[in-house]
Amino acid sequence: ALVSMRELLDHAAEHGYGIPAFNVNNLEQVQAVMMAADAVGAPVILQASAGARKYAGEPFIKHLIQAATEAYPHIPLVMHQDHGTSPKVCQGAIDLGFGSVMMDGSLMEDGKTPSSFEYNVQVTQQVVAMAHKVGVSVEGELGCLGNLETGEAGEEDGIGAVGKLDHSQMLTDPEEAALFVKATQLDALAIAIGTSHGAYKFTREPTGDILAISRVKEIHARIPNTHLVMHGSSSVPQDLLAMINQYGGQMKQTFGVPVSEIQEAIKHGVRKVNIDTDIRLAMTAAARKFMFENPEKFDAREWLKPAREAAMNICKQRYLEFGCEGQG
Ligand code: G3H
Ligand code: 13P
Ligand code: NA
Ligand code: ZN
Repeated sequence: ALVSMRELLDHAAEHGYGIPAFNVNNLEQVQAVMMAADAVGAPVILQASAGARKYAGEPFIKHLIQAATEAYPHIPLVMHQDHGTSPKVCQGAIDLGFGSVMMDGSLMEDGKTPSSFEYNVQVTQQVVAMAHKVGVSVEGELGCLGNLETGEAGEEDGIGAVGKLDHSQMLTDPEEAALFVKATQLDALAIAIGTSHGAYKFTREPTGDILAISRVKEIHARIPNTHLVMHGSSSVPQDLLAMINQYGGQMKQTFGVPVSEIQEAIKHGVRKVNIDTDIRLAMTAAARKFMFENPEKFDAREWLKPAREAAMNICKQRYLEFGCEGQG
């Protein structure tokens, strides 16, 4: 059944666990998340990006998620809009039936240019006002995702600043976070601690200077009652990279966010952990392997099945690692 994000995160805070929020774009990904949650008794956050809404089309996204609640009525589920770039986009998602929206006012409407604190407060306040009126939860973001070592903001496509960023822009300031939460009254706050979207987050196994879990602790100490959100939280498993390359892929060396670091962050107020890339890697590795080993096959279901299974396995693993077992 559909539940509110606020309710779900309050429960996670009370019981000390974190909830992976999985990005979904199609039938198989929605099924994979639901199968995983069902297997371990976890609550579910399904999130759709602007890219997902464009890829699948709004009616398909809406009804795929509704189908998930019909197929698994016993599982608490939140339908969340990821990275809304304006109040208008958030209003559209609310009209479509989303129970939770992210207003990412850390960037201007282009989803690429870092914004001012004042702009961020203003658009987030606006979304909170319209969302709370109809029982919809709001996630905001303060700080820009980016690589603390290179100053590189991240991918050129999708949501995220483009070009070079200052070190301080990429680390959310605890005092500013307190002001932001007070001014906006949002339900969850996404923070910047050195992660970025996509597969290419770190050029080496991250240490504290490039993945600032210490900053999570400082922010949590300042605003202990605010639910924190970590974006760019895929772990980029090395075995999946190896498998992709073994079966004809060409991915470069890269490192993600270690699960142990996410677990540490969950001890300090992180309640929602965004994951998209790990599912992409799992599905692509499985599909490549199947096609390589079965070059005579042409029924799409035959390669989508192992891809869905691989997605399910990674989701199940994250549910267990983040403490969701039996919490749904
Ligand atoms: O925000 C980042 C998510 O990974 C969504 O990516 O915009 O390609 O759907 P996307
Ligand atoms: P990843 O690219 O690390 O999976 O992050 C996804 C995300 O933050 C979606 O908002
Ligand atoms: Na941001
Ligand atoms: Zn994100």
